[in-house]
Amino acid sequence: MRFFNYLIWGLLLVLSLANHKNVYGQSQTNERARWFVDARFGMFIHWGLYSGAEGIWKGEKLRDDNAYAEWIYYRNRIGKEEYLKLLDRFDWDSIDPEKWVILAKKAGMKYVAITAKHHDGFALWDSKVTSYDITDHTRPKRDIIKELATACKKHGLKLGLYYSHWVDWEHPYGWDHAKEIHPITPEQYDQYWQEKVIPQIRELLTNYGPISIMWFDMWLHHSNTIVTEKQLLQLKNLIRELQPDCLINSRLGLSVEEDSDVDFRTLGDNQIGSKKLDYPWQSPATVAHSWGYNALDTKWKSTTTLLHSLINNVSLNGNFMLNIGPRANGDVPFEISQRLLEMGEWLKVNGVSIYGCQAFDLRKDQHDWGKITYKALGNGRYVLYLHIFNWPLNKKLYLTGISTKPVKVYVLNDKLKEALPFQFNGVFTEISLPVMQPDPYVSVIAVEFDEKPGIKDGLVAKTVEGGYALTRKNMLADDGHRSIGRAERGGTIPAHIQVEGKYQMKWEVYIDKPGKMSIDASYSFQGDQPGGDLQVKAAASTLNFNVTPTGQTVGEPNQGWHIDNFASKRLGEINFPEKGIYTIKLLINAKNDEPIKFQWLWLEM
Ligand code: GLC
Repeated sequence: MRFFNYLIWGLLLVLSLANHKNVYGQSQTNERARWFVDARFGMFIHWGLYSGAEGIWKGEKLRDDNAYAEWIYYRNRIGKEEYLKLLDRFDWDSIDPEKWVILAKKAGMKYVAITAKHHDGFALWDSKVTSYDITDHTRPKRDIIKELATACKKHGLKLGLYYSHWVDWEHPYGWDHAKEIHPITPEQYDQYWQEKVIPQIRELLTNYGPISIMWFDMWLHHSNTIVTEKQLLQLKNLIRELQPDCLINSRLGLSVEEDSDVDFRTLGDNQIGSKKLDYPWQSPATVAHSWGYNALDTKWKSTTTLLHSLINNVSLNGNFMLNIGPRANGDVPFEISQRLLEMGEWLKVNGVSIYGCQAFDLRKDQHDWGKITYKALGNGRYVLYLHIFNWPLNKKLYLTGISTKPVKVYVLNDKLKEALPFQFNGVFTEISLPVMQPDPYVSVIAVEFDEKPGIKDGLVAKTVEGGYALTRKNMLADDGHRSIGRAERGGTIPAHIQVEGKYQMKWEVYIDKPGKMSIDASYSFQGDQPGGDLQVKAAASTLNFNVTPTGQTVGEPNQGWHIDNFASKRLGEINFPEKGIYTIKLLINAKNDEPIKFQWLWLEM
């Protein structure tokens, strides 16, 4: 009886916690963050004393396996006073934060966030809290935050401030990871917090006009750090008191789920979105690798790659904040500014498919040609922007799963908006594309509707190649026992389903052209003898296939690296007598204790 009581109480507790989350958790965009969600694209600026080191200290390159040049103070064990000598490298006549703002504007970015204080503890503004600030070391005195705030106001961009609250290498009681070996007390840490963090945040939110974002940088939840929840709440409440409209990111150390006052989630460094979220989020990203200028950093991402990341995030309701690491003379490295300007040119023409756009409710990665963003135009019109990453060789674009007939389809960068021919088949639209890919980076096709486009969910999309790939990811339902095999070594062993016994999968496919289709399966079977069978049922036909061994191959010579083959086998043909939606069923029947590892079915005319 007692156990029963505990069980009931336990259940009630779980339910009330779940409920608590719903009430207080950030499940959608709050009003404060609306501009941010519409903006989608911002500039991150990492600039500070470390920019003068350029990733090299006394002839030695940064001691760092992840090569973040802004970490040189800590990594190369530089003394606090000696570090200030880097100021000699700064060319104050040519440093002009307005140039960064102009670049952001030209790049189509809508906000700018600068490292007001990075982990080195050095303030880029006139801080009365400490002499470890720029204004105490420049003649004439400079205040970079003030200059940037003025420029942002002039050019109509929102200003955000990065502030390293958790880590501070300069203050004796600020956190640095070495304090794991030489601990400080919670009281000492609180001294740092009360005498540096709190008054500096007060300065920043009092003296520089509206601050649109406070961007904190604690990448662990506070429960795993020296920072207490009480300290974080004190900080958060101070921000709310001074500037209630200022956005706060989740690297404050409190998650979006636990505190609805945290406005957006920050993903990991250079982590691009992988799933649709209903609340605001953002990826911080670099053009190469380091955030602060690193002379040895050369792994530049292409403009196309950067555009893909931006589009990917918007297609999942996210933002993209791209970093520049200016040099100690204020110059932005050519490789960065060039890409930003190219992105700006693209956005000038295609920006309507980014700003104010959001995710559409189709399954993520439904189409292999690219990504979709969505916008309600407000005048009874709705538009899907099809971002084509892979321009189809046959000049046909297949849109699967939209159940509303478009009223107009056109290339977004076509000034005349000349209509592209298309055929609508209830749940499938085939668009005839121009012969030439209209944009060298990413071409966008606008598809307009006069009602909110409906969705036929769960259909397997027709691929760019013209066939249908039926996988675990796009199946409708399954039945029976199986385990999931993850991709290994770059997919040499692909993701698959492992079956011992019987297992059934079901898909739905819209066939737009009646006729015979060949059916292939990719699987791995390592028994010596035939062991089990595959059965495919569709359109009142059945195909039976005996599973035969697929053998092994070698990954690289002399490494003993033997790979179980996944081989593509022809199962036969099935006739689809008319166009329409068909259910395709696959029964996997493994025998003799040897599993069948299934990867995909492939249907092709
Ligand atoms: C990490 C790094 C930091 C960089 C930041 C950008 O937290 O410590 O150097 O500023 O990511 O997202």
